Amino acid sequence: MKFISLLYKGGFIAIALTGAMAPLPLPAAVPVYLNDEKNIEERIEDALSRMTLEEKIGIIHAQSKFSAPGVPRLGIPELWCTDGPMGVRPEVLWDEWEQAQWTNDSCTAFPSLTALAATWNPEMAYLYGKSIGEEARFRNKSVLLGPGINVYRTPLNGRNFEYMGEDPYLIARMAVPYVKGVQSNGVAACVKHFALNNNEINRHTSNPIVDDRTLYEIYLPSFKAAATEGEAWSFMGGYNLFRGEHASYNPILMNDILKGEWNWDGAVISDWGAVHDTESAVKGGLDMEFGSWTNGLTNGRSNAYDNYWLATPYLEGIRSGRYSEDELDDKVRRVLRLTFRTAMNRQRPWGSMVSDEHKQACREIGEEGIVLLRNENNILPVDASKVKKIAVVGENAIKMMTVGGGSSSLKAAYEITPLEGLRNRFGKDIEITYSRGYVGDTTTSYNGVVTGQNLADSRTPEELRAEAVKAAREADMVIFIGGLNKSDHQDAEDSDRYSMELPYGQDALISALREANPNMVVVNISGTGVAMPWANKVPGIIQAWYLGNETGNALASVISGDTNPSGKLPYTYYASLDQVGAHKMGEYPGHPSIDNLGNEVMDMPYNEGIFVGYRFTDKNKLRPTFPFGHGLSYTDFAYGDVFVPKVMKKDASAIEVTVPVTNTGDRKGKEIIQLYVRDIKSSVERPVKELKGFSKVELEPGQTEQVTFKLGRDAFSYFDADRHEWVMEPGDFEILVGASAGDIRSKATFRAE
Ligand code: GLC
Repeated sequence: MKFISLLYKGGFIAIALTGAMAPLPLPAAVPVYLNDEKNIEERIEDALSRMTLEEKIGIIHAQSKFSAPGVPRLGIPELWCTDGPMGVRPEVLWDEWEQAQWTNDSCTAFPSLTALAATWNPEMAYLYGKSIGEEARFRNKSVLLGPGINVYRTPLNGRNFEYMGEDPYLIARMAVPYVKGVQSNGVAACVKHFALNNNEINRHTSNPIVDDRTLYEIYLPSFKAAATEGEAWSFMGGYNLFRGEHASYNPILMNDILKGEWNWDGAVISDWGAVHDTESAVKGGLDMEFGSWTNGLTNGRSNAYDNYWLATPYLEGIRSGRYSEDELDDKVRRVLRLTFRTAMNRQRPWGSMVSDEHKQACREIGEEGIVLLRNENNILPVDASKVKKIAVVGENAIKMMTVGGGSSSLKAAYEITPLEGLRNRFGKDIEITYSRGYVGDTTTSYNGVVTGQNLADSRTPEELRAEAVKAAREADMVIFIGGLNKSDHQDAEDSDRYSMELPYGQDALISALREANPNMVVVNISGTGVAMPWANKVPGIIQAWYLGNETGNALASVISGDTNPSGKLPYTYYASLDQVGAHKMGEYPGHPSIDNLGNEVMDMPYNEGIFVGYRFTDKNKLRPTFPFGHGLSYTDFAYGDVFVPKVMKKDASAIEVTVPVTNTGDRKGKEIIQLYVRDIKSSVERPVKELKGFSKVELEPGQTEQVTFKLGRDAFSYFDADRHEWVMEPGDFEILVGASAGDIRSKATFRAE
């Protein structure tokens, strides 16, 4: 050893003397970065100063379907994105939409985001975000392309199931913890689709025409909360246009509002195939371009990456002096910041995939999101001492739903169907027969992911119905499990519904089953509201969502009473489109027009303005099938008198409201107390009421809790477009507290100085 050591030292001495390879002078102190934000800013400037023009251009656009190249020479890794909001998409081939047939990328398919919103439980939202972020981390993805938080403007929107309902306040309260949960893994949330992507029909050419007050009061608040409270590290722009420019690089949305008014430091990522020219993308606040030359779902030119609008055309534009490097450097800083927060964050945890914790989270969120809409004569929960035979009818009892629906389609590790869940739960206590009742969608694959089911059925509708009616007649109880199924025009990306009616003759079948056996429960599985002409005839109605892996177990837990349902509707359950502002006053799907660049677009005036959802039905005194915020329990809750101080002083920044709530039933249960506000007299037209607070409490039988709300002035303000600011006018306000928008239990007024 000694000899080697001498040789080693000798070698250095020889080199030093000859100068053949003078040892490099080490920097005085090699900084050891710990990923805190301050150091990240130093690292950004250091990296930027070392990058060539070509490397700067390279880092801001895709190199494959879902990745961007980083800067290999500087050790800056690739940045990998993945769908979607409800689970981590299976690996796809480098430049394909089809899955890559990996054997280790089956995931936890979590419940749809509408189901999460229906829990009205921000703790569930954090659990959801943390869990899905762990799976994205485990798959070594740095950006999760979710949550989707576009407002439910019409029940026809094909992607309502991916979003969180109609009310900006509820969406915001649920989106923020989801974002924080995802990012606790060192994985970026990518909040989408900013903004006004409220329909799938004509999604690349829709041109919503929206006034500023409507924009700021309805369509921006949830995005603002995700950006400023959730501190989301990335946003995804929408396909649609707005005031003459595509959303993904819209200077008003991206520069003036997101990066200006909200002072947001994240990176804007285009939707896939949402970029259409270089100059607009350069000037309009876009930071990363993905999916160009594709329709964002199924097709596209292969390996077109150098032709991306922010690739060679941009590089040539800078070289020719058409563009300065100022915008480019801002884009690069934001992409580097995204990278240092994620792929180069050495404190990141390692994540996990399909863990027991994730299975439990999936089931809990599903159980809490299921909404009991009607329960006449307490037909639910099923009493196994009385009910000995149940006839289960409907295709959705057996159809796997984690595959399909568009970019959120998943390769789930497993999926418990409703029929399996019911049979697992009731075992030998109750005989459960099954009849399909109708044939809806027999598709069993998407993007190369197959369910393994064979749903082919050669029987006629008459034969199917006769079998089901006979089964119903011979049972103690009927549970019909139908709804939509994430096939085209039935809750799917890039295709809106044609109407609110249930497809495949389900309404007639439900009526026939009801005639055969009045002891009937309908379980509607869908991500959007559907017409229920039989709603007053069927004693039990459950709104179940796409609940992912644990669908059957979560549903059976509620039907059996193991779980006391506590979910509430995140949107108004309209009886018909006549009750929808977007259809009665607004335009949907809009009318053909030519925009300022000469493009053919579909102008879509949002004439209903701020009157979306219950704001519209309140204004027009319409009675929906079920109101926003509606949901029953197996116990009952009584509300005492709400208390609010008589006066809110001029210098007071907030006001405190309390209301006692008691569990008057005989079993533990959770109640979502909703607080709405009304400006009794205002200088502008305002909604009858607006949701500005909610609290979910669990109460033992007989227990009373004093529920308290603290409301800031923003809760009472409207957006004054002329002054471009929020205004709370002095005067009388009313506080309305209730179990839903249609079930106000207590009111009180106060005067604001
Ligand atoms: C799709 C969707 C978007 C998705 C992206 C990548 O077209 O609009 O939500 O994340 O492209 O699949």
